[in-house]
Amino acid sequence: MVRIYENIELTARNSFGVPARAKRLIEFDEAEDLMQIFADEKMTNEKWIVLAGGNNTLFTRDFEGTLICPQNCGIEIVATEGNTVHVRIGAGVEWDDAVAWSVEQGLWGIENLSLIPGKSGAAPVQNIGAYGTEVKDVIEQIEMFCPETMNRLILANDYCEFGYRDSIFKRSLKGRVIITSIVIRLSRTPNPRLRYGDVQQRVDELGGPTLANIREAIVAIRSHKLPNPTVTGNAGSFFKNPVVDRELADRLLAEYPDMPLYPAGEEGKAKLAAGWLIDRAGWKGKSDGRVGVHTRQALVLINLGGATGAEVMELAYRIVTEVKERFGVELSPEVNVL
Ligand code: EPU
Repeated sequence: MVRIYENIELTARNSFGVPARAKRLIEFDEAEDLMQIFADEKMTNEKWIVLAGGNNTLFTRDFEGTLICPQNCGIEIVATEGNTVHVRIGAGVEWDDAVAWSVEQGLWGIENLSLIPGKSGAAPVQNIGAYGTEVKDVIEQIEMFCPETMNRLILANDYCEFGYRDSIFKRSLKGRVIITSIVIRLSRTPNPRLRYGDVQQRVDELGGPTLANIREAIVAIRSHKLPNPTVTGNAGSFFKNPVVDRELADRLLAEYPDMPLYPAGEEGKAKLAAGWLIDRAGWKGKSDGRVGVHTRQALVLINLGGATGAEVMELAYRIVTEVKERFGVELSPEVNVL
């Protein structure tokens, strides 16, 4: 089924809750619907993008084109080999519903990614990650539709160019394909990953590393640190953790010995914590008109009520400028700014 909305208001369709309109928005239920949508002559030369849950998108102006919204839900086990279980998840499934399902089924692999807002089809685009796990660790293949060729395509993990909050879908395939489902590999063999932050301690308090306890611990940690987007408009981490030259990292470390530093996975580079830099620049918990920086996590910009996307961006620019002046580090947004 396809549902078409003309001149639609988007406040309820982006987690920042900022106002914007789109010329058109089309929801689809099945991958096959895309053939029909793109065969329509209205789509010839039409500007289009995918808007899934709107959890990582900031609208700074109206969108003069068509938004394509996956609604295809469905989680199915496609194959089982020993303890390994291959699962197909529709692009329109809420990611956290997929995680809850995996935990109920006793399947390990994505429990550390509990409570990340957004749809499953968006998960590989920015390679969502938290608490020592990234979705790339479990992705087997991505199923998608390409309007240029009117074909359905499958891309195996190796070809997805996954990196930290990065993939081919943010690069050469950006604006060229629509992800319709993902296939992930889960396991019945327990594999608790508890090393990140205070996960281990929380899990111990709950009685040990079962799937349900790990999910509960992660949900508790996230709920404490991060604002609920249905209450306070936000898009999770607004900035990526910056990867800088090791030399700059060492200079900063000499000046700020408590500065968190992570391996960047690249020779001569290091990853810094953007939240720490913004916090140290004095922005944590501060507000500027109708926008602000969350009190418990400086990486999260929030809509205090009635803000526009442009106001969020003004605050983001001020933060970027101050962090650059103070630490010589350039922050870049994780959020997709339109
Ligand atoms: N920190 C501060 N002040 C802050 C925030 C953080 O000093 O206001 C320090 C922390 O004390 C810690 C370090 O910075 O030493 C890192 O903080 P944290 O563990 O909270 O993680 P993060 O790097 O800020 C990343 C992801 C989150 C993910 C967490 C947990 C990015 C951009 N963000 O945050 O992902 O939940 O790790 O794994 O990589 C998201 O992408 O939307 C998101 C929430």
